[in-house]
Amino acid sequence: MSTLSERSSPTLSDGAKLTIVVLISGNGSNLQAIIEAIRRQALPVTIGAVISNQAQAPGLRLARASGLTTEVVDHCQYADRAAFDQALRERVDAYRPGLVVLAGFMRILGDSFVGHFRGRMLNIHPSLLPRHAGRNTHARALRAGDTMHGASVHFVTEDLDGGPLVVQARVAVLRDDSAERLAARVLEQEHRILPLAIRWFADGRLRLGESAAILDGVQLQQPYLFSGDGEALESCP
Ligand code: GAR
Repeated sequence: MSTLSERSSPTLSDGAKLTIVVLISGNGSNLQAIIEAIRRQALPVTIGAVISNQAQAPGLRLARASGLTTEVVDHCQYADRAAFDQALRERVDAYRPGLVVLAGFMRILGDSFVGHFRGRMLNIHPSLLPRHAGRNTHARALRAGDTMHGASVHFVTEDLDGGPLVVQARVAVLRDDSAERLAARVLEQEHRILPLAIRWFADGRLRLGESAAILDGVQLQQPYLFSGDGEALESCP
């Protein structure tokens, strides 16, 4: 993959576009999906920075390799959640993002942080919310005998993993599935629905209403169900 400095267009930093800040804690495969969507001109956003609470997150290396600005706000360096949230908020605000994307960010954010970014923070979660909020979603889906599992993108509110749903992708649970195999198939879908939701937001099609997400002026009673290639991101006009 070429680095940003080697490329002229499209770039990952274009001042005319919506700026997003991506928060990660781990591998950054969802970040990679966002980067790839920008590069193929299917996502009209600029990544202002990638910020991690984990200095060793592999996703940070990936971001740097793409020429992106990265920062670490290590939660262990702060006395409590409020102090961490305050520091993180200041660093995120420094990039003046129109949207904050939680792409595998594994810290719970307090009400003050969430309130500050209300209506402009999306999260990707590896389950069909409201089923399996929290961690270990794949193992829990298997234990529960679910026949359908999947991933959800939602607006972040004070309700942990409970904010208004935007889009979901379903993944069939196979006989003799392992949590790892199921997770891999779910992740593939995450890489499709997260850039899609960001694109909707960047295009002004998606916003947070009083109690639900609003897509194309219609309040979503149910999340938009991603069904495959029909909604695949096309290049920006
Ligand atoms: C993804 O599966 C994402 O849905 C999950 O962490 C993984 C990060 O993968 N997020 C959560 O569980 C948040 N509650 P990635 O670092 O390869 O994008």
